[in-house]
Amino acid sequence: MPHVKKAILPVGGLGTRFLPATKAMPKEMLPIVDKPLIQYAVEEARAAGIEEFIFVTGRGKTAIEDHFDRSWELEQTLQSRGKTALLEQALAFMPPPGQIAYTRQQEPLGLGHAVWCARHSIGNEPFAVLLADDLIQAESPCLAQMVDAHAELGGNMVAVMDVPRDETQRYGILDVVEEDGRLVRAKGLVEKPSPEDAPSTLSIIGRYILQPEVLQELDRQEVGAGGEIQLTDAMARTIGRLPFNGYRFEGRRYDCGDKAGFLEATVAFALARDDLGEAMRDIIARNGGAS
Ligand code: G1P
Repeated sequence: MPHVKKAILPVGGLGTRFLPATKAMPKEMLPIVDKPLIQYAVEEARAAGIEEFIFVTGRGKTAIEDHFDRSWELEQTLQSRGKTALLEQALAFMPPPGQIAYTRQQEPLGLGHAVWCARHSIGNEPFAVLLADDLIQAESPCLAQMVDAHAELGGNMVAVMDVPRDETQRYGILDVVEEDGRLVRAKGLVEKPSPEDAPSTLSIIGRYILQPEVLQELDRQEVGAGGEIQLTDAMARTIGRLPFNGYRFEGRRYDCGDKAGFLEATVAFALARDDLGEAMRDIIARNGGAS
């Protein structure tokens, strides 16, 4: 199987659920503890061997470009103050020059449309898609787990997990045929079905490894659930022609597009940190314990 080298990161969304915080700041720059959501996604992608990052941005997202650029004033200040550890940290997460590209989604026409906007940077090879809102805490980064499984299987692969039935209308849902360990074979996919209509409760989480055929399907610009061009529909149309696998990843996923999920991620990531775990446990104890 060809090595997965490229990743698309759709970051064009308005983030209305986090207003007023997101009025002048991209939602992907909201920090979990001290790191922006988008940086978690980029680090996960790098850990999976991704070498080219294509951001699909929109108006008001320049802070993301600045974040992945050198900041000479900051670097000089840190250097002159002898803060070398901080300086190294500030530089280490940046992909090397030329490995990041930006394109704009000019209209909010859906996730499928956002991915399609990056088609010319992909060409004819498999690629990953990461949605920064889905933050995954795992021993081995989620995309790396998928890249390993994909090396054997090829085709299209999506991260999946079970959700409560009353939440199916927030996700792409698999019409499951059979399960084999972490792998799930599906005969169809439905975007945001109501709980009554959902073929299962196994939902797509924002990590994908896709074949260029999905981009060709997106060329049709077909409108789906919510009046948007859906990535789920384009993948569904390739089932039968290309292998399709859901991958039950190891790890815990936090929905950082939702306020409660965002808060939970903040607590979980702070608890897991050597420098903050104890302080966080004290905070929880002082506030009535973690129930
Ligand atoms: C998108 C996808 C959906 C997927 C979800 C995962 O929805 O369209 O299939 O289950 O991400 O977070 P969105 O959250 O953009 O509405």
